[in-house]
Amino acid sequence: MMRSCQESSSSAFYRPPHLRFKNLHLSCHEVADHYSGRTNQTLEQHEAGSIIHLKQFNNWIKSVLIQLYAKRGDAVLDLACGKGGDLIKWDKARIGYYVGIDIADGSIEDCRTRYNGDADHHQRRKKYCFPARLICGDCFEVRLDKFLAEDAPFDICSCQFAMHYSWSTEARARRALANISALLRPGGIFIGTMPDANVIIKKLREAEGLHFGNSVYWIRFDEEFEDKDAVDCPEWIVPFPVFKALAEEYGFELVFVKNSHVFVEEYLKKPEFVELMRGLGALGDGKEDQSTLSPDEWEVAYLYLSFVLRKRGQPDQTRVNSRRDKGKMHLSKEDIVYISD
Ligand SMILES: C[S@@+](CC[C@H](N)C(=O)[O-])C[C@H]1O[C@@H](n2cnc3c(N)ncnc32)[C@H](O)[C@@H]1O
Repeated sequence: MMRSCQESSSSAFYRPPHLRFKNLHLSCHEVADHYSGRTNQTLEQHEAGSIIHLKQFNNWIKSVLIQLYAKRGDAVLDLACGKGGDLIKWDKARIGYYVGIDIADGSIEDCRTRYNGDADHHQRRKKYCFPARLICGDCFEVRLDKFLAEDAPFDICSCQFAMHYSWSTEARARRALANISALLRPGGIFIGTMPDANVIIKKLREAEGLHFGNSVYWIRFDEEFEDKDAVDCPEWIVPFPVFKALAEEYGFELVFVKNSHVFVEEYLKKPEFVELMRGLGALGDGKEDQSTLSPDEWEVAYLYLSFVLRKRGQPDQTRVNSRRDKGKMHLSKEDIVYISD
């Protein structure tokens, strides 16, 4: 049977299943160590080969979200920014300020070198057009509202493929939403992607045992999930209606939530996003290379959803903010701030 976390009275917070991509352990308790160990050009490149189109596809989804909602000059808070894989997307949106936070110091260091253009494979890239700050810490535990009070308000907050890490206890989920709500301006936008609980639980019910998967991923549930008729979802698989209800408590309203398959169907109707998909390589190069996501990669895409939330209220047009003074155009190791409660 499922069991609830210590401080949660809500039935929506449970121990996680083991969600694995082949060689890629996503629900490990030592998240920071896990991601820190995956520095630029190491294991990850090797693994990426078999899921290259999936990675390009995920980049397309994030790019679409950013292009839809980021505006020139925006101040951006990138929670769980990882190695800075989205820096280039923010640059294309001509944002004005960027704060990236991740729990894994190795990833933050990679993000720093990528931002500076120091990483080998990025050397030819021009400098990014926005000043940045990088922070290493647990963004679902620390009072970011206090720590980043002078950098706020942000126009947009992004949490890509990571929001579910906040769901291990109700306190953490609440801290995450409280942080984001406190730091966004009224009318500010919160975009994100995370596992789609509906799909995962549906697949669990259809599975013969407590595990399922294909050539590129597998998911294994603990024995406590043996009762497959239980409608509640495990902790790191976030039941979206509960997430939405909690977000509403923190002043957010839902703009949309879409499973990745629906997302594609909808946004590939727009020529600019077809071009973007082609540019990223997820549809081949459109000439000789007609390759695209394999059926197994497409099945993985189905496991995720994207959401957009808006913080209620009207933006204060008169407010002038000096937050960019906190950012730098070149970041030294000493510029990375380590925070804990
Ligand atoms: C799948 S990666 C996504 C990285 C990036 N957002 C992207 O889309 O490329 C998940 C990231 O979440 C980070 N993470 C997990 N839990 C976190 C926490 N509590 N605070 C900050 N970062 C966290 C990990 O270190 C990792 O970099």
